[in-house]
Amino acid sequence: MKRREFIKQTGLSAITAWAGSSLLLSACHTEEDMMGEANWIVEGGFTQALFKPVVVEGNTQLIVQTTTGQLLNGSSSTILSYRNGVLGNTIKATRGETVSVQVQNNLGEETNIHWHGLIVPEDMDGHPKDLIAAGSSFTYALPINQRAGTYWYHPHPHEATARQVFMGLAGMFIVTDSEEAALNLPTGDFEIPLIIQDKRFSGSSLDYSPSQDEIMTGYLGEQIIVNGTYAPYASVAKGWHRLRLLNGSTARVYNLALSNGMPFHVIGADGGLLAAPESVNSLMLAPGERADVLIDFSGLALGQSVYLLSKKFSQYNVQGRQQYNIMKFVVEQATAPAFTLPTNLSTINIIPTASAVTTRTFDIAALVGSMGGNGGMGRHSIGGKTFEMDRIDETVQANTTEIWEFDNRMGDEIHPMHIHGVQFQILERTGGRGNLIATEKGWKDTVLLMPGEKVRVIMTFPTYTGVFVFHCHNLEHEDDGMMLNFEII
Ligand code: C2O
Ligand code: CU
Ligand code: CU
Repeated sequence: MKRREFIKQTGLSAITAWAGSSLLLSACHTEEDMMGEANWIVEGGFTQALFKPVVVEGNTQLIVQTTTGQLLNGSSSTILSYRNGVLGNTIKATRGETVSVQVQNNLGEETNIHWHGLIVPEDMDGHPKDLIAAGSSFTYALPINQRAGTYWYHPHPHEATARQVFMGLAGMFIVTDSEEAALNLPTGDFEIPLIIQDKRFSGSSLDYSPSQDEIMTGYLGEQIIVNGTYAPYASVAKGWHRLRLLNGSTARVYNLALSNGMPFHVIGADGGLLAAPESVNSLMLAPGERADVLIDFSGLALGQSVYLLSKKFSQYNVQGRQQYNIMKFVVEQATAPAFTLPTNLSTINIIPTASAVTTRTFDIAALVGSMGGNGGMGRHSIGGKTFEMDRIDETVQANTTEIWEFDNRMGDEIHPMHIHGVQFQILERTGGRGNLIATEKGWKDTVLLMPGEKVRVIMTFPTYTGVFVFHCHNLEHEDDGMMLNFEII
């Protein structure tokens, strides 16, 4: 059966499941046959205030547990949590310090934590071989020697990463430094972290149960939650705000824009500030990626509201064919602190391509072992291989520079590729969109490859030696084996 037919046939049951719910279907559907799709976004009322995760500075403790969280209007669900509630606290650290995070695993299963974007020693990186047994604890010591930026943390046990993240385990990790502080960017109430995720429910319970077909496309939820709140609104002022955006979804890509078409200013990416702000009307954000943006709401009248939405981005991909609202900003305060958008933000030292000692090319389009897993469809792979815990796939020298190419030109799936232990620069994208977007002009640890695209990245490996992974951050693909080991020697 072709995927499209499969979706049409299963669509009806999704409609039935929703019939008893008080949620409104969005009125903007034009493709009527799509409405019943299992992953068609259902918008809420945007009446719940946005939750803002608690910020803890420096050393802290995370108690990983199964608890009950309020994710959806009027109902609650069993979730996995780093505290007694939705999502982990935001951990904030200053460049130069070493942060220790004691993790107590009270889940009835193994977990661990990967500090996505942080460059830390091998045994602190949360490689899938380094797990914390049920009932045990482990203290991560994280030396923070990198640029200010929006990083994040989540579990990484092989074949359970997607489910544990989907069920609630994720948090933001913010690094600050003096360079960023000197810019006097909007802060306090005017700095808003937004962790965007899609969730699927069965009744009122969070439901993670991907079918074979959904391991191919990625598991897509019908409801968008931001910081754990379904269809939220945030009260803002007439003036500048800083949004730290994180796509914490397992597979869904967002093409972010504002409903009034107003531009916003991208000031940072995965690895911190860009050299200069770039004004955009829309911005693609793939699973694992972050974007730091400034928005000036002063052109809106008091009482007016504007939606953060996701625009269509592909007529071929199931998740690119819909526009839907994510959250609402309501202008309720007359003034915000004065702020002028700086012309320069930071210095980005461009890594010269001539300094690369080698180029490695990875085909990420092929499915392998069609007789094997995934109901005979084959499994996602990198360079023809799927993950094996003890096999070293690539060996690199500490402190040397390499170019890696990810090739999805023959592919028909979306793959956000992520490399642990390093921040890279993107040299070029050929095929598909054929260019680099605003966030891709800064330091990155995750890069989106749409079908038909090839991307070249350049990076200098750190002095930390040991085994790290690189993988697709579509977490269904990752758990399906789209991950390899590389060793820094
Ligand atoms: Cu955020 Cu190895 O992943
Ligand atoms: Cu990572
Ligand atoms: Cu993938």
